[in-house]
Amino acid sequence: MTDYEQFVESIKKKTRIDLALYKEAQMKRRLTSLYEKKGYKSFIDFYNALDKDRALLDEFLDRMTINVSEFYRNGKRWEVLQNKIFPRLLQQNKKLKIWSAACSTGEEPYSLAMTLSNHVPLSQISITATDLDENAIAKAKAGVYPERSLAEVPNDIKEKYFDNDGSFYKVKNEIKKTVTFKKHNLLKDTYDQNYDLIVCRNVMIYFTEEAKDQIYDNFSKSLRSGGVLFVGSTEQIFNPSRYQLDIEDTFFYRKL
Ligand SMILES: C[S@@+](CC[C@H](N)C(=O)[O-])C[C@H]1O[C@@H](n2cnc3c(N)ncnc32)[C@H](O)[C@@H]1O
Repeated sequence: MTDYEQFVESIKKKTRIDLALYKEAQMKRRLTSLYEKKGYKSFIDFYNALDKDRALLDEFLDRMTINVSEFYRNGKRWEVLQNKIFPRLLQQNKKLKIWSAACSTGEEPYSLAMTLSNHVPLSQISITATDLDENAIAKAKAGVYPERSLAEVPNDIKEKYFDNDGSFYKVKNEIKKTVTFKKHNLLKDTYDQNYDLIVCRNVMIYFTEEAKDQIYDNFSKSLRSGGVLFVGSTEQIFNPSRYQLDIEDTFFYRKL
């Protein structure tokens, strides 16, 4: 077994996170730069240290998860969501069941609530948002963001749903109330069913082909027929019919 393989085994036992399902070269590079910066010589050395040090374990988790996000990421796709996807879904169902999977620090589920509020009252909106990383979830619940996270937010939405406090922007309670955050590991936990919309963006790029295949299959089973999977802008699915999905628009897939 290589040094890295032993590390993967030990981390799996300790945290139940299976690094073998993440692309190896990429993950190794990120973790090597972290342990070298900390003065360790090998993955085994690094594991022995983080096994005894909660702060170091948190740093490792932080490095492996990559929480970069922003509101209305790839703004044009959100226009399609607003003008094409939501109107169609709402014709079939007035109260949509929505899941933002791997939601990081909350920008994505809050953007969903804000976009959907152009069609229905906030009292009718309820979004489940999940991530593997509890620190990210805590930040999401706090709902406070630097100005740069809001670069793509339409002006009317910015005025309506954020309180500006110096260089920080706080999401208003009326929006926060529409989102329920939970911890969920896409590679291990069970998936809820009957979703109208699943949004999972900018996380599949980190997984192996085998892991992706399993996740797309799970997403497909979790969507009701006619429901939509919205993916990231580098993450198109090459063989959607394999998962009973059809292209509805670029980066939007409809369950058959
Ligand atoms: C780059 S962020 C994407 C955030 C948001 N979806 C977006 O597109 O802006 C990737 C997120 O995936 C989460 N993640 C990584 N592995 C995961 C897993 N196995 N299950 C659930 N979330 C995971 C990370 O914690 C991180 O918050």
